[in-house]
Parts: sequence; structure tokens; C-alpha cells
Amino acid sequence: MVSKKAKFMIRKMKIDDLLSEVRQVRSFYSERKHNPDFGYSFAKKKPSEWDLLQNLQWRNKGLENGDMIGSVAEADGKFIGQCSLFCLWPKSEMDHVGELDIAVNEEYRRMGVGAALLKDVLKRNKGRFKVIQTYVFTNNEGSIKLMKKFGFRTVGIVPKMTRRNGRYFDDYVMYLDLS
Ligand SMILES: CC(C)(COP(=O)(O)OP(=O)(O)OC[C@H]1O[C@@H](n2cnc3c(N)ncnc32)[C@H](O)[C@@H]1OP(=O)(O)O)[C@@H](O)C(=O)NCCC(=O)NCCS
Repeated sequence: MVSKKAKFMIRKMKIDDLLSEVRQVRSFYSERKHNPDFGYSFAKKKPSEWDLLQNLQWRNKGLENGDMIGSVAEADGKFIGQCSLFCLWPKSEMDHVGELDIAVNEEYRRMGVGAALLKDVLKRNKGRFKVIQTYVFTNNEGSIKLMKKFGFRTVGIVPKMTRRNGRYFDDYVMYLDLS
């Protein structure tokens, strides 16, 4: 799909996208520095590309075996964002639950990329996951708005889910029933 409104396109996630995703996560460390309330949790210290790659290997495996479904946004041939659904409990009675992760590079936000990614990944899901859940910082206005737009309901709050420099952040549990 090629967007007419802004210059980006959405496509299926490939295993080769892993390194771009690693670089995106690393870029969030400088974003967290200038925005201490940044609504995305990750390792306390910035990991090396190699550490992150090893960490994300399981996602790689998921893309191969169907326990992960992903969409990528590109602008001028470069990775600018991703949205993925992945199974946290493969082969269990909870393997119908897809955990959602979404992130758009800072300079491309509020241009409709997040909405286009979410729409695409839900289309690619094709019944694999029956319910989708995601944890969202209660201060993450953009993400909350985006999830609600696609029918996600807030089903609870997990207090103090993230601890950052001695401050706590609560998470909403947001849920989409596709069954
Ligand atoms: C959350 C995120 C993926 C949204 O992506 P995006 O490309 O900016 O989203 P869109 O441009 O498609 O916007 C979707 C809707 O949310 C609204 N929105 C987006 N960011 C917003 C913000 N910061 N404040 C208020 N509303 C916002 C848009 O106006 C739009 O609503 P509309 O259709 O009524 O106009 C992006 O902000 C991001 O990557 N954030 C950092 C990582 C993160 O927080 N991930 C989510 C973890 S759960």
C-alpha cells in the first residue's frame, strides 16, 4: 500500500528489518533523554547493536514460524516505523493472544504512519490472534488515541509498571477482541 497523503509506504515485515528495528530502539535513548516522560519502556542502559540483535532473535524466529506478524513503514526506501503482533506464550492455551508493539521514528509521527501500520498489521493477522493486548503508559496520549481509534478498550491499569530514575509510570492494559 502506498499512502497518497504523506510519502511513505507500508509493507510486510521481513527478517532483514531486524537491524533497522534495533537502530530505532537505540534512537529512543536520546529521545528519553530530552523527554523524561517518553512513553516507551526499555533496558535502563543503552545496549549495543549486537546485544539488541541477540535480544530480538526470538522475534526473528516468530516471523518464520507464524508466532509474529509485522508491518513496516518506509520513506525514501528507509525504515521509519514498525507494528508487530507476537505470541508471548507459544503452543499454550494462551497462544491466541497477540501482544502489540508499535513505534514510529520521531520525525515521522503525527502523519498517519502509526494508523496505517496498525491497519495493515490487523489485516495481515487473518485470524491468527483472536485477541490483541498492549500495555500503554497512561501519559502516552498518541498511543492511547491510536488504539481507541481501532476499537481497543482499556480494561485496567497496572500501577508503577515502569520505574525510571526513581519515578514510577502506570500502564493502561488495552485490549481488542477479534474473536
Ligand atoms: C504512538 C505512535 C506509534 C503513534 O504513531 P503516529 O504515526 O504518530 O500516529 P498517527 O499519526 O497515525 O496518529 C493516530 C492518531 O493519534 C493522534 N496522535 C498521535 N500522536 C499524538 C499525540 N502525541 N498527542 C495527541 N494525539 C496524537 C493523531 O492525531 C491521530 O488521531 P486522528 O486520526 O484523530 O487525527 C508514535 O507516537 C510513537 O512511535 N511513539 C513512540 C513509541 C510509543 O510510544 N509506542 C507505543 C507504545 S504502546
